[in-house]
Amino acid sequence: MRLISKSFIFPLSIFVMLSSTTYSQPRSPNVIQSTTYLSKEFEVGPREVADKQMYNIEFPKGHVGIKSFDVDLVDEHGNFVPLHETYIHHWFILKYIIKKNMSMSQDPNDHTKPSGDLIYKRNDGTCNNGILPHQWSSGSETRGTSTKLPYPFAVEIGNPADITEGWEEQWLLGVLVIDTRGVENKKICTQCRCDQFNLPENFYDVTVGFHGKVTPEYKAGVLCCQDKFQCKMRKGFQAPRRNLAIRYNITWVNWDQHQSAVRFYVLDVTDRVTTNGSETIHDCRAEFTITENNSTNLFHVQKASIPMKKGGYLIYATGHAHTGVINATLYGQDGRILCTSTPTYGTGKEAGNEEGYLVGMSVCYPKLGSMKIDDGETVTVESIYKNEFLPAVMGDMHFYLADAPPQVV
Ligand SMILES: *[C@@H]1O[C@H](CO)[C@@H](O)[C@H](O)[C@H]1NC(C)=O
Ligand SMILES: *[C@@H]1O[C@H](CO)[C@@H](O)[C@H](O)[C@H]1NC(C)=O
Ligand SMILES: *[C@@H]1O[C@H](CO)[C@@H](O)[C@H](O)[C@H]1NC(C)=O
Ligand SMILES: *[C@@H]1O[C@H](CO)[C@@H](O)[C@H](O)[C@H]1NC(C)=O
Ligand SMILES: *[C@@H]1O[C@H](CO)[C@@H](O)[C@H](O)[C@H]1NC(C)=O
Ligand SMILES: *[C@@H]1O[C@H](CO)[C@@H](O)[C@H](O)[C@H]1NC(C)=O
Repeated sequence: MRLISKSFIFPLSIFVMLSSTTYSQPRSPNVIQSTTYLSKEFEVGPREVADKQMYNIEFPKGHVGIKSFDVDLVDEHGNFVPLHETYIHHWFILKYIIKKNMSMSQDPNDHTKPSGDLIYKRNDGTCNNGILPHQWSSGSETRGTSTKLPYPFAVEIGNPADITEGWEEQWLLGVLVIDTRGVENKKICTQCRCDQFNLPENFYDVTVGFHGKVTPEYKAGVLCCQDKFQCKMRKGFQAPRRNLAIRYNITWVNWDQHQSAVRFYVLDVTDRVTTNGSETIHDCRAEFTITENNSTNLFHVQKASIPMKKGGYLIYATGHAHTGVINATLYGQDGRILCTSTPTYGTGKEAGNEEGYLVGMSVCYPKLGSMKIDDGETVTVESIYKNEFLPAVMGDMHFYLADAPPQVV
């Protein structure tokens, strides 16, 4: 039997082959469906940053369980764009609910933010405010990092019981890429070092981040990689501007009693955990700087211990990091290793294997039911980097927890 999922209409024939496929899920009576979507196009030229947000992107409809969410960057001919041409700094998918019939611009260049009648829905992670609220995200490692959830687990979406009458769930795609064709130093541009970009003259007077106004001590990070900012270019380099798009492949199942829902957590190594007496307060920065120094240490260790209100069975875990990472680990309170995620660095030229770039992070799939985080347990997230100057790197663990171990049948 072939279930037809929503197919994507794309002008180029190469994509016709990619419209939709189905395959059987082990031990499940249900069928996994798969669709590849293409985002709206956005234009970027040599040395330029593109920081785009696209509301109400195409997504599987109805009450379904998402099994995987894979993202790639393609040009107008449908070719994968390698990181040494356009660096994928990050992409993220954010869930929100919105009053039905509220119109929402899908134009990536429309920067008017919707107001009222729209509520963002955070993941179950612990960061404060709008920091790391996404449901899926990745960076340069996107092509080499599995997002698959094993049977019977899936991210449940579109459950009518969870959605207020008159509202609907929608999804925002955020993407930050840097076109490094022709720049003086690709590595430094991709680190969003402020002194490499043509910041507006009043940058330090007007720029406000999650922690207030930036000061001249802010030397690198996403605030210096805003839409249309330009990195230093080699003299005389010329290349045409081009249209890029995000290609995303979602696999899912129709929700039924055979599926088990998971909760998604992002824990961040910069989280400064304090308490005000009654509540735990989190303060995440997401980006941090590794200062090169002459210590005999080969490694830089960044970590945070974070109490988990609610625990569960660990189903999937992986690290999110930047180039320079050596490993990322999630520990239990007693020091047991719940997951160590290790990087893959590229060795070639082609997309997915670009030399020197972080192109994948390994994923832990513990034997189902074998690893559990207790309610109230304090876990530790750790990122180990090379001990060298690396401004604006990140260290997150992304993981899924389930309430119950899979039923043995
Ligand atoms: C989407 O990803 C799944 C799992 O990786 C794969 O089996 C399927 O062929 C992909 N579908 C398309 C349309 O590329
Ligand atoms: C949305 O608009 C349609 C068509 O105009 C209308 O039939 C429907 O009742 C509206 N829904 C809500 C929730 O306002
Ligand atoms: C601690 O913070 C919470 C959340 O902001 C607040 O509701 C509570 O009143 C605070 N408690 C004290 C003792 O300050
Ligand atoms: C480290 O040592 C080298 C060689 O002695 C020196 O040139 C450099 O300035 C030192 N760096 C720091 C951060 O102290
Ligand atoms: C030098 O690096 C080591 C290893 O990460 C770190 O423990 C130490 O704090 C660093 N020293 C300075 C002065 O930054
Ligand atoms: C992470 O890498 C460091 C440096 O190689 C190593 O000492 C450490 O044991 C690794 N961590 C884990 C949990 O494997």
